Amino acid sequence: MSVAAPSALRPLRAAPGGDAVVVIDQRLLPHRLAYESLATPEAVHHAIRDMVVRGAPLIGATAAYGLALALRADAGDAALDAKTAWLKAARPTAVNLAWALDRVVNHVRPLPVATRAAAAWALAAAIAEEDVEVNRRIGEHGLPLLRDIAARRGVGPGRPLNVLTHCNAGWLATVGWGTATSPVYQAHAQGLPLHVWVDETRPRNQGAGLTAWELGQAGVPHTLVADNAGGHLMQHGQVDLVIVGCDRVTARGDVCNKIGTYLKALAAHDNGVPFFVAMPTSTLDLAVADGLAEIPIEERSAREVTHLAGRTAAGKVVEVALAPEGTNAANPAFDVTPARLVSALITERGVVPAEEAALRALMAGA
Ligand code: MRU
Repeated sequence: MSVAAPSALRPLRAAPGGDAVVVIDQRLLPHRLAYESLATPEAVHHAIRDMVVRGAPLIGATAAYGLALALRADAGDAALDAKTAWLKAARPTAVNLAWALDRVVNHVRPLPVATRAAAAWALAAAIAEEDVEVNRRIGEHGLPLLRDIAARRGVGPGRPLNVLTHCNAGWLATVGWGTATSPVYQAHAQGLPLHVWVDETRPRNQGAGLTAWELGQAGVPHTLVADNAGGHLMQHGQVDLVIVGCDRVTARGDVCNKIGTYLKALAAHDNGVPFFVAMPTSTLDLAVADGLAEIPIEERSAREVTHLAGRTAAGKVVEVALAPEGTNAANPAFDVTPARLVSALITERGVVPAEEAALRALMAGA
């Protein structure tokens, strides 16, 4: 049964004239749905670094367009290499950024310089469309897992399947469907009673501001919780499964995702709650094995921890200080969940254990 996408909106679109891309400014959600037009590689770099766009797959697709824009000014080998390295440095952790840029470079380098910019733009568009289909298929492969747990847990009218998620791995973080949310949207569309516990996801509140907004738009029942509530909810049997996204998965199945994910995996393990990771294969990095030792973890500004943006009763979005003036703050943006805590990886090619042999076999068919 084919299911309609959860939203007609897209966080990334090519502008009709093909001279820019138009993105949702995710810094303003949920208070305002506003778009920004990115017509230069500099605008794309800023949008990624300052999180106008965020989420591993969306970062990759947006960067591919950014490189195509850069090649319009100079498509020679030196510029190609310099702009690629510069865009890759916009954010260090999500491997999709390098994955998408390397695809563009490998595609255009053999081409005559004069044709590279157009070829890069066409490939960026293909990467964006592919992402929508990849995530739809992640949903298709994840749905039987939800149905199976629902059957075992006696889900039905008045007893929804309780799913916990962390950060935003929804359609806002991709080009469509989302990764972790895709099985949820498909289950909801097919009438499976479900309810989502939405971690607020401090310090940038992707859960409170983006996931809650998305699920509200789609009519999916959900409850916002403080990040620290998940373990307690699991202890009291109120969580049937956890499903999260990822920014980089290593060859042996270590999963890097938004800070706080590891703590949810520990709590899930301690309470026998299945912990699933929705992983487009574009997020698999077979070049690294030990996630803790090898994945670069982004350190973002302390101000994201000491201050908070919110909407006043008058509807104005303001920033307020949470901590005493001058308080030191650290802000690692991601953490690594060891493979041993991951129940399964849900990919567009099927569900696999977080194990090296299975991951290499999955990619061998590529
Ligand atoms: O810092 P962000 O908002 O880019 O972090 C996003 C996440 O950690 C997501 O869970 C991950 O990128 C997967 S998005 C499908």
